[in-house]
Amino acid sequence: MVASKKLTSAALRERKSEKIAAVTAYDVAFARLADRAGVDVVLVGDSLGMVVQGLGNTLPVTLDEMIYHCRMVARGVEHAHVVADMPFGSYQASVEDGVRAAGRLLKEGAAEAVKLEGGAEVTELVARLVTIGIPVMGHVGMTPQSVHKFGGFKLQGRTDAQAQSILAGARALADAGAYALVIEAVPPALAAAVTRAIPIPTIGIGAGPSCDGQVLVMHDLLGLDPDWSPRFARRYAELGREAIAAFAAYVADVRSGKFPSDKETAK
Ligand code: KIV
Repeated sequence: MVASKKLTSAALRERKSEKIAAVTAYDVAFARLADRAGVDVVLVGDSLGMVVQGLGNTLPVTLDEMIYHCRMVARGVEHAHVVADMPFGSYQASVEDGVRAAGRLLKEGAAEAVKLEGGAEVTELVARLVTIGIPVMGHVGMTPQSVHKFGGFKLQGRTDAQAQSILAGARALADAGAYALVIEAVPPALAAAVTRAIPIPTIGIGAGPSCDGQVLVMHDLLGLDPDWSPRFARRYAELGREAIAAFAAYVADVRSGKFPSDKETAK
């Protein structure tokens, strides 16, 4: 039997303190590139509502859209662990809804695990999913599906009460069987406290350096939007600017007749 080269949720669970590198992807081409680069986790984030669909937040993203994107990503990934976000409305009404939605993400989307937002209020669902064999990544802090409750995409966990609630939620998720936890946009000291408090790896975004891993939205990492990136993101490339320059060079060549040349003509 050939050993699988795939990073599994079980293997990831054991990588506490090993600095996990996660990135989002939404299609086969970029998923393949991230996988080739050695990324550990490819997250099909519902951030696709904002960076792919051009929406103002993630709330309108549907389960069918998540499945569609996840299926493409899974096709491009050989080694990394593929996680799909459960979109808003697919799990909040009942545990049954959540089980059905997660099942579809694995069955139709070829995800290997699901991520869902929330703390203590989602632990019943997390425990149920884990019991029936669906690995769950939690997500606490500035959970974008609660943007209206927060009054915007704002740092969370500033007050003592908020910090205690995030910490308690993280502990409850780990106890319910989550294998990893995303911590988004909280003060670094709180992310460090959560990381110390739970036995599963934490993966931070805008949460400082103490988490066990980091995740970035692909568009922010690659600089695909030349005019904007969040303060906490680091741009490792300027692909947006390069794409504009390449499109402009193509337009100029078409208009001047330089493209296509004889060798670029089908014969
Ligand atoms: O939807 C997403 O891309 C996410 C990450 C930012 C963690 O949830």
